[in-house]
Amino acid sequence: MGETLQAPRGTRDLLPAETGRWARVEAALREVFARYGYGELRTPLFEHTELYVRGIGEATDIVGKEMYTFADRKGRSLTLRPEGTAGVVRAYAQHGLGQGEAGEAKLFYLGPMFRYERPQAGRFRQFWQAGAEAIGYADPMADAESVAMLVAALRAAGLKDLSVDVNSVGDAETRAAFRARLVSFVEGWSGPISAESRARCAVNPLRILDSKDPQDAELVAAAPKVTNHLGTRSSAHLASVLRHLDRLGVPYEVNKALVRGLDYYTDTVFEVLSADLGAQSAVAGGGRYDSLVGQFQAQPRPAVGWAIGLDRLVGLLEQRGLMEGSGGARAAVCCVGSRAFARGLALAEELRGLGVRTWFDPSGRRSLKSQFKQADAEGCLLALVLGDDELDRGEATLKDMRKGGQAPVALAGAAAEAARRLAGD
Ligand code: HAM
Repeated sequence: MGETLQAPRGTRDLLPAETGRWARVEAALREVFARYGYGELRTPLFEHTELYVRGIGEATDIVGKEMYTFADRKGRSLTLRPEGTAGVVRAYAQHGLGQGEAGEAKLFYLGPMFRYERPQAGRFRQFWQAGAEAIGYADPMADAESVAMLVAALRAAGLKDLSVDVNSVGDAETRAAFRARLVSFVEGWSGPISAESRARCAVNPLRILDSKDPQDAELVAAAPKVTNHLGTRSSAHLASVLRHLDRLGVPYEVNKALVRGLDYYTDTVFEVLSADLGAQSAVAGGGRYDSLVGQFQAQPRPAVGWAIGLDRLVGLLEQRGLMEGSGGARAAVCCVGSRAFARGLALAEELRGLGVRTWFDPSGRRSLKSQFKQADAEGCLLALVLGDDELDRGEATLKDMRKGGQAPVALAGAAAEAARRLAGD
């Protein structure tokens, strides 16, 4: 026999015990997207490499060292999508999705992303995001609505106490001036600094502020903050976003150390962090990106959006015991003897036809005790029990799996009676 192959490092199989929980989280998120008027967009899993180099920025970690890039059979450079925003903007421009003069569109997506990162708890090479992008909206109200929707989405998925970290990274000019200020500060710094931050100083100094390395804690605390150097327009924009969030009662904190790892952000940036996630603490992140659309079509368009990391969200919900029950079977058909099993098969079909999740053992060989045990593990609330004696009387026994009581029911009406009881449950 050959050696058993394992899934590639950083990827995993989501098994039936988990996919039910994932599906419920996804359904809750879809419902929120619909409530806010977002339409689903499904973009390809791979795009021309150039899209990400131009969109995300050459100096970022993602483009610099985390992309799955390959040449196809004709030698074109393609890349597995490391995030969703660049693809959404490409599709928006390609299909002219913008409505009206401002080119407005509200789009959401849900699917796997790929980054060649060092795998650890909460960090995978294939991971899932649910994201939302509002294109064509410049007003701070759009930022506030987007953040409010993020909180609504996380709450709908089951995350209870959460707070959004909000900051502004200013416009392109502010950032260029600030970058120079930060570089000279870091160059003059004589305290501890990690090797990674030292290297970043030359390539993408803003990311130093985002360092989670304990060696950099002192440096990050002492470093100048871009929020303290915003131009008048950016300051007013941030103040207005915060005012709207206050009015909406959205829980947030201004975190001046927050800078995001992608180059396309302008003004507002935000993240939802959870200490429970350890080093990989961000459940979701996003912000405004007013210069990205103009890179892919003649008409520039302001935009704001975010993405939730589903692996982290589901992990957090499981960790906190916030996942509802298994969503498994609700009824069981348990039988003794081959005649009863044959009739039980039909009875199970009848129940399923009535929309009831039904467990039945088609091996026809298990003891009644073993069937009850399994039915209980499958989350069944009641069981219809069939033996040869019951069959001869044209009856089944309806057993309450929770309370343990049982009573005979006419076989002909047994499925309908079980369905009726479950509906009243
Ligand atoms: P991001 O912060 O790179 O932003 O990713 C968003 C979320 O995806 C993170 O907060 C995290 O939960 C999850 N995530 C990222 N990398 C991994 C990984 N290796 N393993 C597991 N989860 C991960 C973006 O991708 C932007 N496109 C968000 C956005 C949309 N900004 C504006 N619009």
